Amino acid sequence: MAVNIAILGFGTVGTGLPTLLSENKEKLAKILDEEIVISKVLMRDNKAIEKARSQGFNYDFVLNLDDILADSEISIVVELMGRIEPAKTYITQAIEAGKNVVTANKDLLAVHGVELRSLAQKHHVALYYEAAVAGGIPILRTLANSFSSDKITHLLGILNGTSNFMMTKMSEEGWTYDESLAKAQELGYAESDPTNDVDGIDASYKLAILSEFAFGMTLAPDEIAKSGLRSIQKTDVEIAQQFGYVLKLTGEINEVDSGIFAEVSPTFLPKSHPLASVNGVMNAVFIESEGIGDSMFYGAGAGQKPTATSVLADIVRIVKRVKDGTIGKSFNEYARSTSLANPHDIENKYYFSVETPDSTGQLLRLVELFTSENVSFEQVLQQKGNGKRAVVVIISHKINRVQLSAIQDKLNQEKDFKLLNRFKVLGD
Ligand code: HSE
Repeated sequence: MAVNIAILGFGTVGTGLPTLLSENKEKLAKILDEEIVISKVLMRDNKAIEKARSQGFNYDFVLNLDDILADSEISIVVELMGRIEPAKTYITQAIEAGKNVVTANKDLLAVHGVELRSLAQKHHVALYYEAAVAGGIPILRTLANSFSSDKITHLLGILNGTSNFMMTKMSEEGWTYDESLAKAQELGYAESDPTNDVDGIDASYKLAILSEFAFGMTLAPDEIAKSGLRSIQKTDVEIAQQFGYVLKLTGEINEVDSGIFAEVSPTFLPKSHPLASVNGVMNAVFIESEGIGDSMFYGAGAGQKPTATSVLADIVRIVKRVKDGTIGKSFNEYARSTSLANPHDIENKYYFSVETPDSTGQLLRLVELFTSENVSFEQVLQQKGNGKRAVVVIISHKINRVQLSAIQDKLNQEKDFKLLNRFKVLGD
């Protein structure tokens, strides 16, 4: 017996599936009674078909989704095209045609997940997307299954390989933002338009999906605070190191009594934190929970084989569910109404880099400005000025988001001060 699947989009991940199916043939035969067979592959145009054939792929390539939808032998559609459209339309049509769907499309799930999940429920089909978050790390199913008996209070992740590669180069090699971006583009990690990676958008999509699995709460894109790498200077990275930290782009969700707070931002991580040694393109998710305590899940966040492995695991799960008669159950069954934390309840230390006139009394003015919001300094460093301007860096004691906004507003209102950067600092 065979389970026929169709693949939409035959790029990096799609072309990895045939290899995985053959490498794991014996194991899959032990786990499943049926063989997974790639029955049809939807291609963009004839040129793409010719290219795939010249690479030795010999599938039934089609140019029209209807050829897949009308094929009653195909029970699973695997969407690997990425971006919102036409992926959203195709997935919708596949679900409406009664097909189970596997996708790696985090953009789509983060923005239209609610609608697509409810459509899948209505049609009693599966919609699985393990590969959408942290590529090869099996984090979503772990959260859905193994953490069902635990309460998660804090999630902190390195969720974007491109920006982590760039931050590693900036920290370890002293490269500038531009140099590290150029290298990431040369190696094919960052796209020619790197916006989604460097501005924290890609990480925020993944964080939105993690919020559903870890906290049972759906977040709209604008409910996740976001800042990226563009403003980071060499001096920020050097000062982080001098003060005992590593600067990295993190995605974080905290649950406090009033609700959850989610943020993607450059973060000073204490060098002793397990995430501080996650370097290059690697991803990791660090979880604090009441039962397990601290746990961390580390691995490749992208790449052909890691991502295809997660996709194939979803396919295997669907085949088993069909056999068990449990198909149509949601990938994640933990859902409660979203409650956003009161900004007074979210506390962190912060790093401020402030340009001031290079003259007597400027440090005192800064102390007074921070004191007026009841904020004290934990560490402070004045860099040697050029006679006109100087830079003062401050790490504050813990403050809440309301105090943070007030300090930022006041710094921005002082016309001879310039707030160059403000980053979150983890630790007590
Ligand atoms: N562009 C992403 C990253 C990979 O650099 O992590 C896919 O999500």
